[in-house]
Amino acid sequence: MFNIVIFGAPGSGKGTQSDFLVKKYNLVHLSTGDLLRAEIAAKSELGKIAEGLIAKGEFVPDNLIIDLLAGTIDKYPSANGFIFDGFPRTVVQAGALDKMLSERSMQVNIMLNIAVDNDELVARLLNRGKTSGRSDDNLETIQQRLKTYEEKTMPVIDFYDKQGKNNPIAGMGTMEDVFDRICQAIDKVNA
Ligand code: AP5
Ligand code: MG
Repeated sequence: MFNIVIFGAPGSGKGTQSDFLVKKYNLVHLSTGDLLRAEIAAKSELGKIAEGLIAKGEFVPDNLIIDLLAGTIDKYPSANGFIFDGFPRTVVQAGALDKMLSERSMQVNIMLNIAVDNDELVARLLNRGKTSGRSDDNLETIQQRLKTYEEKTMPVIDFYDKQGKNNPIAGMGTMEDVFDRICQAIDKVNA
C-alpha cells in the first residue's frame, strides 16, 4: 500500500502528474475537484452546494469534503494505494485524512509539493479555460483560487513538513521533466 498526497497551487499539474502516476504505480486517483464536478453533473445535494463555491474559487466546507472522501476510499478495498489530489486543502482536512487512513491501517507515505511560478499558473489555467468548460478557469476566479490557496492551503505544507513527508518538486519545465523529479522522490522514499 503506497499513498501519495499530490499537492500544489491551482494549475501546478496535480491532475496531469496523477495520470502518469496511475499508469506507472497502478494506484487509484482521487481528485476531490473531479468528484465534486461529478456531483454537480449529477445535480446531487452536494453538487448544488459545490457549484457556486467552485465558480467563485472558494472551498466546499471541510465536513462535506471529508465525508465525500471517506465514502470514496471505501469503494476501493483492494487498491494498491491512493493518490489524493486536491485533498487535503486545509489543515483540518489534513488531520482528518490521517485519522481516516489510520482507522483503515494506512498512512500517507509521501507528499509531493509541486511548485510553479504564479505567472505560469495563470497562463496554464487561462489556456486550459479555452476548452475545459470549467466554471473556474477565468481570470477573476483564477485570482481568487490562488488567494484561497495561499491563505488556507499553504499551511498544510507545514503539517507534512513536521511529519518529514514534504517533498518539494520543481514544477516548471515539461510534464515529463516534472514526472522524472516525482519518480526520483518516490524511489528515494521507497528505497
Ligand atoms: P480542483 O479541481 O482540485 O482544482 P485546482 O486545485 O484549482 O487545480 P486544477 O485542477 O485546476 O490544476 P491541477 O494542479 O490539477 O493542474 P492540471 O494538471 O490540470 O478543485 C476545484 C475546486 O473544487 C476548488 O477551487 C474548490 O472550490 C473545490 N475543492 C476541490 N477540492 C476541495 C477540498 N479538498 N476542499 C474544499 N474544496 C475543494 O494542469 C493545469 C493545466 O496546465 C492543464 O491544461 C495542463 O495540461 C497544463 N500543464 C500541466 N503540467 C504542465 C507543464 N509541465 N507544462 C505546461 N503545461 C502544463
Ligand atoms: Mg486538477
